[in-house]
Amino acid sequence: MKIAIMGAMVEEITPLLEFFEKYKTIEFAKNSYYTTSYKGMDLVIAYSKIGKVNASLTASTLIEKFGAQKLLFSGVAGALNPSLKVGDLLVATKLAQHDLDITAFGHPHGYVPEGSVYVETDKALTVLAQKVASAQNIKLLEGIIATGDQFICDGVKKEWIHSTFNADATEMEGASVAVVCDALNVPFCVLRAISDAADMDAGFSFDEFLVSSAKESAQFIIAMLDEL
Ligand code: ADE
Repeated sequence: MKIAIMGAMVEEITPLLEFFEKYKTIEFAKNSYYTTSYKGMDLVIAYSKIGKVNASLTASTLIEKFGAQKLLFSGVAGALNPSLKVGDLLVATKLAQHDLDITAFGHPHGYVPEGSVYVETDKALTVLAQKVASAQNIKLLEGIIATGDQFICDGVKKEWIHSTFNADATEMEGASVAVVCDALNVPFCVLRAISDAADMDAGFSFDEFLVSSAKESAQFIIAMLDEL
């Protein structure tokens, strides 16, 4: 079984590389891919750089070039649901692109013909995540993630994404990874630890909590590997 673990920023995969210690580095398409093995599984780890295009390229590469059969995304997100606080963990049930807009042609936000507003994640991986959470006595929220090529740091925009997509958190890669994995039939999950509240203080909060929240998410992913 070959498993891909993907983040967007170097801070999101550093805790993984530190944990696995020994890995091989392969350069491809202006990016680095790290391969190792763990408990009989082959792992390939990468961060994509920020945004949907970079994330799509990396997810496609992890699957098509490295042969990943499952993909686990780990990283941080801004909270839209007021009950989510910095450090809380969220696993996506489905994801949408909040900045995809052809409403001029009568379509809903996030929709393009032959696509769908939401892409669902793999239910078995969500069940596994909940199993790990209850074993570790961690509260893990299941919810909707809205993705776009924007760092959300504005109350009005935040509320619009929250209400339009019924989304619990926002980030900049998940839905594009979801589109790729869905198209290529690869089971995937998107796990995010909250780094900020996507409000006017989001930039400061993100800078303060990126490393600690990214580590929480990465540690949870390692615990999931133990159960795979
Ligand atoms: N990732 C973490 N926080 C975010 C925010 N506020 N907007 C977009 N992506 C994020």
